[in-house]
Amino acid sequence: VLQLTLAVIKPDAVAHPVMLEALHQRILDNNFVIVKCKDLVWRRQDSERFYAEHSGRFFYQRLVEFMASGPMRAYLLAREDAIRHWRELMGPTKVFRARYTAPESIRGQFGLTDTRNTTHGSDSIESARREIDFFFPDFCMEEWMDKE
Ligand code: CMP
Repeated sequence: VLQLTLAVIKPDAVAHPVMLEALHQRILDNNFVIVKCKDLVWRRQDSERFYAEHSGRFFYQRLVEFMASGPMRAYLLAREDAIRHWRELMGPTKVFRARYTAPESIRGQFGLTDTRNTTHGSDSIESARREIDFFFPDFCMEEWMDKE
């Protein structure tokens, strides 16, 4: 069965047109269907709201600042087992772990630091729901599922 996930190309990767194109191609090569795609810039309060669960962590300030530092691209992706597949493609959050354990992954190849790590992906069905609604508030998941 098809599953939806939210994938974000973060400002560090969007800033490099070649990287952005490579990531777009990677999505297509891995059999994701792009249901929706949009380029946007966050205000600081969008960033704070999206990452509220991390408030209090030592990296929170730099994370919210970074995510509001420039344009990013959000994808609503569909695929069988989409959440797991996208997370596997991204590789581990921490750049050193990504380099050593998953050098072929997106973060293994392109990640700069633990914060500037190129991409985001929903980590569960519940967070996919919340995050899809955050980026694509007009999208009606139930309606889309019915059509499938
Ligand atoms: P993301 O998948 O967007 O979810 C939370 C983000 O917090 C994560 O990617 C990183 O960008 C950031 N993050 C997580 N852990 C750390 C860390 N140890 N140091 C700095 N940033 C982090």
